[in-house]
Amino acid sequence: MADVRQLKIAAAKKALDYVNNGMRLGIGTGSTVEEFIRLLAARVVQGLEIIGIPTSERSMTLCHELAVPIATLDEMPEVDLTIDGADEIGPHLSLIKGGGGALLYEKIVAAASKKMLVIADESKVVETLGAFPLPIEVNIFGLEATGRAIKKVAAALDLSGKIKLRMKNNVSFVTDGGHFILDASFSHIPAPEILSRNLFTIPGIVEHGLFLRLASCAIIAGEDGNIRVIEAQDL
Ligand code: A5P
Repeated sequence: MADVRQLKIAAAKKALDYVNNGMRLGIGTGSTVEEFIRLLAARVVQGLEIIGIPTSERSMTLCHELAVPIATLDEMPEVDLTIDGADEIGPHLSLIKGGGGALLYEKIVAAASKKMLVIADESKVVETLGAFPLPIEVNIFGLEATGRAIKKVAAALDLSGKIKLRMKNNVSFVTDGGHFILDASFSHIPAPEILSRNLFTIPGIVEHGLFLRLASCAIIAGEDGNIRVIEAQDL
């Protein structure tokens, strides 16, 4: 049985097939993307010319260390392809992202990209989103009021569950954008489009981890060594 890291590497390796010379490449965040960055760096050494647009300080640091050329989204506001991981992959390539806390920049870069390619191991594929707690990036001001408003919006959709402030090393986790994250354990999100829309009616919410109609393709590495490529246009 392949271990999860090997599956992440397999998906990341396949993603290289989609990278062409001259591309402006959005580079996501997370352990799967880190495998991709390592493989990409080896191709760069061999002569591949790309410019990476990292979605987090974490990915930016790794690109720096491995000499992958990078630019900011302001320098390269149009991106050819973004390659990113996901915490859950649901029907029609709907995603939950933000387990690594980079959802805001990830979504901004994905939205500025012609295509978004998701790389993941099979364990991320679900029938219904929501077992993974939904990360919601919120303004630090009014945290308690925002949390209560999220509960109300959720209750109107028959969703409930703990909403927890994300912590790291015993202090509140702060995103690269300077916000907090509330992780909402709804366990089941049958109507992600409606939840997404309703969450955006709350002023304190900066962004949430539902990525809907953004991914155009997913590369899924399975235990059996099989790599599945799912194209959104085929769904
Ligand atoms: C980062 O904020 C996330 O959106 C990641 O893309 C997601 O958590 C997947 O990470 P792994 O590849 O580490 O599972």
